[in-house]
Amino acid sequence: MSRFLRTCLTALATGLVLTTAAAASDPEAGAAVFRKCQACHAVGEGAQNRVGPQLNDLFGRTAGGLEDYRYSPAMVKAGEDGLVWNEESLAAYLASPRGVVKGTKMAFAGLKAEADRDNVLAYLATFSSAEAPAAEAETPEPAEAETAQAEMVQPEPAPAATAPAAPEGAAAGDGLVLKLGREATAEEVAAWDIDIRPDGLGLPDGRGTVADGMFIYDDNCAACHGDFGEGIGRWPVLAGGQGTLTHDRPNKTVGSYWPYLSTVYDYVRRTMPFGNARSLSDDEVYALTAYILYLNDIVVDEDFELSKDTFATIEMPNEPNFKDDDRPEEAHYTKDEPCMTDCVAGKAEIKMHAAVLDVTPEDTGDNEAPAVGIE
Ligand code: HEC
Ligand code: HEC
Repeated sequence: MSRFLRTCLTALATGLVLTTAAAASDPEAGAAVFRKCQACHAVGEGAQNRVGPQLNDLFGRTAGGLEDYRYSPAMVKAGEDGLVWNEESLAAYLASPRGVVKGTKMAFAGLKAEADRDNVLAYLATFSSAEAPAAEAETPEPAEAETAQAEMVQPEPAPAATAPAAPEGAAAGDGLVLKLGREATAEEVAAWDIDIRPDGLGLPDGRGTVADGMFIYDDNCAACHGDFGEGIGRWPVLAGGQGTLTHDRPNKTVGSYWPYLSTVYDYVRRTMPFGNARSLSDDEVYALTAYILYLNDIVVDEDFELSKDTFATIEMPNEPNFKDDDRPEEAHYTKDEPCMTDCVAGKAEIKMHAAVLDVTPEDTGDNEAPAVGIE
């Protein structure tokens, strides 16, 4: 057992009030914290250098001091300038690696929680034989630690590819600044922000008729979904099935089941044709959406043109069977406060719907236990 631990235990045994750092340290908890380091560091018997240097006999090691590991120039320089790893300098380094050794190649944001730092150091101390870290802690080398700290300039942003996992637990992330990435550009936001609300908000400009849609559909969709949306083989059926929802084997299609047309537009735009997603223009998606309505007898006029303006005239047959989920235990569905934070005036109108069907006994067809969910 290291002298560090022994000191702790003796202190405990004699009922001494320990100084903050030592008081909390728990090598076992530290072993769990060390999982954050393990991708890059090994410690213990036979530990080899990995992405980072092995951490045996760390206490008392000059920073950048292993012969067989290639440190960054910054770490070598820190060692030459006198940085030696002890409880204090390690605690500072683990809190903010780049704050203490500006330019270190250790791509790790740091351990923000003091207890995590204390514990992981207590754990590492169990692999440090020679010099007792506790003794060193009493005679720290504040000069170095402070010079190093004084260099604490804005840490450079870490490359995104080496982004460390955020610390576990909600509290651990508090106040954490990873300094990764950059602000998204307006163009990027526009490209991602393509969701459409059931009332049509978010629809792009453009238009397409049923007749247009038929040609596009035959070329791009019929091979899987069938000429009439009946589905070839095991590919999904897009049309029909109305009135079957309460049957033993309900036939759920866009026409029989989907509550909102906005989902059809969004789904086709994002995902279809299968294997060639995002290849359709907005006009083509309007035309295809119109054609799918036609296949489902929801519109009957081949000249019907779907656009932002006509979108709201369409009501999907099954929409009335969807109702607000008002289960009180589902906090995020509560009606009173649809959004807990950042309520924008318009958004407060949004209601969450769940796929809960109202099934009345007379609808139940030939069997008593409908396969669809009842509230
Ligand atoms: C993403 C990989 C990565 C993670 C995660 C990581 N390190 Fe490092 N660590 C490195 C690299 C690389 C170096 C060498 C830095 C240099 O040369 O600038 C290093 C250096 C160190 C050093 C200096 C060792 C010496 O010999 O000078 C210590 C101490 C250290 N790490 C501790 C930790 C601890 C403790 C954790 C977990 C809380 C951790 N590191 C997490 C990659 C990592
Ligand atoms: C190569 C076969 C293939 C082609 C071509 C294809 N789809 Fe699909 N489509 C699928 C598959 C597979 C799914 C189900 C995907 C899933 O559930 O993850 C699907 C699902 C759908 C759905 C949702 C059906 C439902 O009820 O869940 C719609 C709507 C749809 N496709 C429309 C289209 C349109 C419009 C086109 C032509 C632009 C098209 N698809 C082309 C294979 C295809």
